Amino acid sequence: MFVPLETEPNSLYERVGGDEFFFALVDHFYARVAYDEILRPLYPADLEPPKRRLALFLIQYWGGPRTYSDERGHPRLRMRHVRFPIGQQEREAWLQHMRAAVESSAAGQRERQALMDYFANAASSLVNQG
Ligand code: HEM
Repeated sequence: MFVPLETEPNSLYERVGGDEFFFALVDHFYARVAYDEILRPLYPADLEPPKRRLALFLIQYWGGPRTYSDERGHPRLRMRHVRFPIGQQEREAWLQHMRAAVESSAAGQRERQALMDYFANAASSLVNQG
């Protein structure tokens, strides 16, 4: 039997460096959302709780600890977004800020691509207007 002795960690969570990576990514993302005319009105005044929720969600999704579900239960992202009108404009704005955050991160090329492919698909699935 072939047993690889030295392999890359197999979750993206581990490959990018764990919790720290996702908290930094989300900080970067929300620093841009804070000044976005389209998106800012959708979010609550205090952006700290949304930051924590998004970071914990991504950590769990990419193979890290399941703290998100311990605190929030099943993600049900589509359901949790129905109260926000999300059209193509909102999707583009959201993705633009996330792309900037991913590009300024220290993640490798393959991980950046995986993250952006996922975000693009997830954002499409949350469009609920028009
Ligand atoms: C398409 C554009 C999007 C818009 C306009 C949008 C907007 C919002 C808003 C206004 C909130 C409420 C903030 C809060 O109280 O936490 C929220 C929550 C959240 N969003 Fe989005 N979102 C978008 C896409 C996404 C995508 C692509 C993901 C995941 C990859 C995502 C993950 C989340 C999560 C995990 C929460 C917190 C859910 C909870 O536990 O309550 N969102 N979003």
